[in-house]
Amino acid sequence: MNDMDTILITGANRGIGLELAAQYAADGWRVLACCRHPERAEPLQRLHAATSGRLSIHGLEVTDNEAIQALARELDGQAIDILFNNAGVGGGEHQALGKVDVEDWLRTFRVNTIAPLKVAEAFLPHVGRSRQRIIATMGSVMGSLAENTSGGHYIYRSAKAAVHMVGRCLAVDLRAQGIISVLFHPGWVKTDMGGANAPVAPADSAAGLRRVLAGLRLEDSGRFFDYQGNERPW
Ligand SMILES: NC(=O)c1ccc[n+]([C@@H]2O[C@H](COP(=O)([O-])OP(=O)(O)OC[C@H]3O[C@@H](n4cnc5c(N)ncnc54)[C@H](OP(=O)(O)O)[C@@H]3O)[C@@H](O)[C@H]2O)c1
Repeated sequence: MNDMDTILITGANRGIGLELAAQYAADGWRVLACCRHPERAEPLQRLHAATSGRLSIHGLEVTDNEAIQALARELDGQAIDILFNNAGVGGGEHQALGKVDVEDWLRTFRVNTIAPLKVAEAFLPHVGRSRQRIIATMGSVMGSLAENTSGGHYIYRSAKAAVHMVGRCLAVDLRAQGIISVLFHPGWVKTDMGGANAPVAPADSAAGLRRVLAGLRLEDSGRFFDYQGNERPW
């Protein structure tokens, strides 16, 4: 077990993932910041330098199973308190009824739905040997069946609805090991994905998510929370 609390974050080079990485690093955590192109991840490189390497940068394309396995091997024997499946894509321009692009749909499923499970599978031993034992996965209210009153967005909505089920299955399957699996809606956040009109700043979303994570107990496993700690309907 490591002495320091440790978080692994996918898609940590921009948006909410970057903000989570910065805040956990500032709080003294060891941060395993994963991104597709470490050589281009300048904000992460600055954080790496500013934290004496407490934040490390790891190349990870989340749809590449070999890359996931290689990173899991590289980190073999280490403890990961929070595995945060954050990386995600919006699904592209062709998501309206009658216009849905099948290739975009498949690509989006690989990133938003399948990758979180494959990442969780690979890092189960690391999470299992940690103190906090949390797998957090970014869902969305866009993936909520109960909250869908406006339709459209077939690709993104279905991929997020499906990852909600992945996280829920993980909660059931891992309960006996004392591992918590939760789904999050981060708010409508001002990032490349959320756009300029989004009302929530990445810093506020990340701070809220951190607060919820810090208060989690095993009884919370399998639940869907927003960044303010409200439980959201599936
Ligand atoms: N923003 C919102 O309002 C909102 C609302 C609900 C849910 N969410 C969810 O929150 C998460 C973060 O969203 P965001 O707003 O921060 O989005 P963002 O600014 O677009 O950032 C997305 C991140 O995911 C990474 N990523 C995408 N595909 C990847 C892949 N194949 N392998 C590895 N990394 C990949 C991106 O890396 P690159 O730079 O390499 O592309 C980037 O770091 C997503 O899961 C999103 O669906 C966001």
